[in-house]
Amino acid sequence: MYKISLITGDGIGPEISESAISVLNTIHDKLDLKFDITKLSAGDNALEQTGKALPDETINAIKQSDACLKAPVGESAVDVIVVLRRMLDLYANIRPAKSYPHMPALRDDIDMVIVRENTEDLYTGKEFRVGDSAVALRIISVSASKRIAKYAFETAKQRNLKKKVTCVHKSNVMRITDGLFAKACTDVSKDYPEIVFEEMYVDACAMNLIRQPQEFDVVVTTNLYGDILSDESSQVVGGLGMAPAANIGDNFALFEPVHGAAFDIAGQNIANPSSFLLSIKMMCDWLGVKNNDSKCIEVGEKLESTIFDLVKTGIKTKDIGGDMSTSEFTKQITDNL
Ligand code: NAI
Repeated sequence: MYKISLITGDGIGPEISESAISVLNTIHDKLDLKFDITKLSAGDNALEQTGKALPDETINAIKQSDACLKAPVGESAVDVIVVLRRMLDLYANIRPAKSYPHMPALRDDIDMVIVRENTEDLYTGKEFRVGDSAVALRIISVSASKRIAKYAFETAKQRNLKKKVTCVHKSNVMRITDGLFAKACTDVSKDYPEIVFEEMYVDACAMNLIRQPQEFDVVVTTNLYGDILSDESSQVVGGLGMAPAANIGDNFALFEPVHGAAFDIAGQNIANPSSFLLSIKMMCDWLGVKNNDSKCIEVGEKLESTIFDLVKTGIKTKDIGGDMSTSEFTKQITDNL
């Protein structure tokens, strides 16, 4: 049995959390893998009700769990997810983008993953005013850059596909910060002679994600570029509603959709729960490897194939060209698991 902490979040968060709970309960009933779920509050609603976007009870419950699932939160995201990533040292943000049959992807041969440094860059929140100006400190260290580079090369090795790592930066302009990041990645690349290493400026990468996305394998980049490029890569393979993410540290991991709270469609039962459900798949992979539990890995694979087999039949939510509601789509998945 795995203890799972679940932040239900804001906007569409509660709707897709219900979908996740339903799928986790079905996995227990039909596939005999038990998840003990603790629902937790964080985000805009928590701030309004308790005065804290990330209440202490939520932090304590997360620390006592085996893994955390987090639905999106709203305007207080920086006080929730950015804090959790740093507090729990979840240094690798893994965002896969793969084209599946019958999805509105740009091409059918895209299979890439963005490995985003998750603890530094402009996201440390060190901003202040000086007279007429606003200043933000951009922190990029050798240790964190080498750590994420190593993670990226190990990922390319394990994927065993194109065996390529693309380091994305803008060192022609930010010579010191991005220059340090590029050099750290170049240094680490020397330990992986079997992996092709290339560098790309972030503007060129944004263009190439549209022009030739099939050329990418593993992209390693800093926090802000990774945030922006992963929304783009998600859209390239069909949309934010299909995009999962993992925040991984040495001892703990948190899984969440790439997307935000989507207030524009909240409360309408039309959000696509797939990105959150595919985040459960990533959680099963991580728990399975960590605990040497092949059944957990198989359950994750089964969940992923169930989602894509369903989409293949034409049963889809609105964002990817169908007309199913969140709850109807979830029911189809739990019936088919
Ligand atoms: P968003 O990702 O919530 O939405 C962008 C667009 O994608 C919207 O049109 C939305 O309807 C659509 N979309 C997103 N998820 C979808 C799904 N599952 N199914 C169907 N359509 C979907 O980005 P936005 O609107 O910029 O941000 C909304 C709020 O979310 C903001 O308050 C922001 O701070 C927060 N946010 C939180 C994040 C987190 O908790 N990690 C990450 C990103 C944003």
